[in-house]
Amino acid sequence: MIVLDKENNVFTLHTQNTTYQMKADEYCVLLHTYYGPRIRSGDLSCLIQYADRGLSPNPNEAGHRRDYSLDTLPQEYSTCGVGDFRLPSIEFEPEDGSRLADLRYVGFELRKGKYSLEGLPSFWGGDEWETLIIFMEDAASQMSVELFYGVLENCDLITRAVRVTNRGTGVVRLRRCASLCLDFQNDGDYDFITFDGCHALERNLNRSPLRPGIQSVESVRGTSSHHHNPFVILCERQASEDYGICYGTALVYSGNFLAAVERTQLEHNRLLLGINPYHFCWTLEPGASFTTPEAAMICSPSGFGQMSRQYHRAIREHLIHDPLQGRQRPVLINNWEATEFAFNADKLVDIASSAAPLGIELFVMDDGWFGTRDSDLGGLGDWTVNENKLPGGLKALVPRIQKLGMSFGIWIEPEMVSEDSSLYRAHPDWVLGPPGRPHTRGRSQLTLDFSRKDVRDHVYADLRKVLDSASISYVKWDMNRSLTDVWSAALPADRQGEVFHRYILGVYDMLDQMRQDYPHILIEGCTGGGGRFDAGMLYYTPQIWCSDNTDAVDRLRIQYGTSFCYPVSTMGAHVSAVPNAQTGRSVSIRTRGVVAMSGTFGYEMDLNNTTPEEKKLIREQVAFFKEHYHLIQRGDYYRLSDPFQGGPFTAWEYVSPDRKEALVSLVTGTTHASPAFRTLRLKGLDPALCYRINGEGRWPGDMLMNAGWPIPMSLFQDDYQAAQLYLTTM
Ligand code: DGJ
Repeated sequence: MIVLDKENNVFTLHTQNTTYQMKADEYCVLLHTYYGPRIRSGDLSCLIQYADRGLSPNPNEAGHRRDYSLDTLPQEYSTCGVGDFRLPSIEFEPEDGSRLADLRYVGFELRKGKYSLEGLPSFWGGDEWETLIIFMEDAASQMSVELFYGVLENCDLITRAVRVTNRGTGVVRLRRCASLCLDFQNDGDYDFITFDGCHALERNLNRSPLRPGIQSVESVRGTSSHHHNPFVILCERQASEDYGICYGTALVYSGNFLAAVERTQLEHNRLLLGINPYHFCWTLEPGASFTTPEAAMICSPSGFGQMSRQYHRAIREHLIHDPLQGRQRPVLINNWEATEFAFNADKLVDIASSAAPLGIELFVMDDGWFGTRDSDLGGLGDWTVNENKLPGGLKALVPRIQKLGMSFGIWIEPEMVSEDSSLYRAHPDWVLGPPGRPHTRGRSQLTLDFSRKDVRDHVYADLRKVLDSASISYVKWDMNRSLTDVWSAALPADRQGEVFHRYILGVYDMLDQMRQDYPHILIEGCTGGGGRFDAGMLYYTPQIWCSDNTDAVDRLRIQYGTSFCYPVSTMGAHVSAVPNAQTGRSVSIRTRGVVAMSGTFGYEMDLNNTTPEEKKLIREQVAFFKEHYHLIQRGDYYRLSDPFQGGPFTAWEYVSPDRKEALVSLVTGTTHASPAFRTLRLKGLDPALCYRINGEGRWPGDMLMNAGWPIPMSLFQDDYQAAQLYLTTM
């Protein structure tokens, strides 16, 4: 609910559990007055304190009022060069070369429903949303700024985006434009939580206390990256899973980003999130606008768990587009880890044949089916079937898979080209990079200039021929390198600062086209695993391959970190062969299954190489997953332990909305002699109800939550044992 106090220019955004407020003061400076647990009503600007601080300047209209400074007051969208020395939200350069932005409030608009952003992914929905637009202006440069706010009450979600328009007569260069600025004036000690890592080890949780100065994570790789995620949390020092105030902020964007927090001279905290200013410069001709990506904030008054559940719900119900409209997504088998590039039609059918009787429903043919793609040295860009491997093409292969009762999916990597390809030989100028400079290779491949529509159209036309040639119900859209040599032949020298952003807009454009042309196709995102695991990609690809690391033990951490923002139903997770290709570790098929079914479940191995006992277990796993699909994919998710603490086990739980059903999964760590007795405290149950565990016993909900479930000693008698407890009410 958005409440306006027009007389005092106070704008209050209420969600179910939180309140967010801003106020335009007597100088039309837009002050941020509050964000936190819900407060019934009132002008909260009384929280703001004024004091004369040495070397903090005063705006001209404030005369000699030295206690009024932009440097110390909490700003809704921070300015640049006119008295606030903290992180600026915006920076632009008119023809006079000044870099000053003195934004003042000029008006507002309130709408039912959710705003949308042309060419950019954003949360969507109907009348359950309200939109507030605040208009601001820098009078001297005639630059106008619109701050968009979308409020989705029941998810505690507030989305934000910014549109800047050049209303003057000269050209302006926009050099920085954050999607979100969040100032906290009176709050003391906060921690900054980020999700970091590398290829095959993404989204490790890191938590550190804020210290004076700036702390930040960013990507300059052209992707949101494996290395840092565009989702960060600010929280009270004492905040934990179930306690304390925390603020999640997620950028709905898949390119370069910057998330920075500044702790100021007065121990205030400012968080900025948006496109990375690195190599960003957008030319605004008179009348032209630039729109930032969206940012999505959720404040939880009661810890991280509640924040995550709200994100999960909002993402499932208001961000992704589900081609299956809520029906079960198929359990899949993918041939990559089993064969890499060394396969032919018979081998693929062989793998599919071993999977179909076990209940696996979708066969995914991974990299290597096209052009001269017999290794990762060539072939990318030539999207025609390699008939040496697949005689008769997809027309011959797909019916053979369908005959087994399975549907068919295919791997593509549209953004890339190999030097050894017909496409590159015909159009060497279509890759990123200026002429006269040797190209930097990544995985031996070059990046097509996706900022160019002609390049995209060519690739898409080729891909359409493939997608139209057979019955295809799933596409894995991969991308396997960071961007370098970022320069486009289609733009003049003074607009090369637009290429990074135009590239990702191009990716979104083609994904959107594909989504609309093939509404039945489930697209799984993949960027060498989880290099673009972000809310931007989720708008187009309802699931994303979480990591190239399929080791069940490493996955405990990767999926744990991922779960802080992103729901289980978005995390691609597969059982693969042992010893694991990435870590060399061997864990049981049972444990691998328990971990992988906490995602969009699948297998990535040749099941012909499994024993009859393993096959039986796999058949049971698949059946179990299907039976509990709605609980796993749509239930409320609870983290019961933190795998980064090195405790004796990792556990998590799904609870049905009516709290009558729950599923707990647990994986132990490495074994030791004389293990201690352990109990596992559950969460989210109905304290007044009694539950059966795996059909047995009588377990009061309050007991399971307060005292816990005694973990049988047998589970600690070997490394990485797994258990699942299915709870039903009596
Ligand atoms: C990287 C992906 O993450 C893998 O799953 C696989 O598809 C390979 N690329 C294929 O090249």
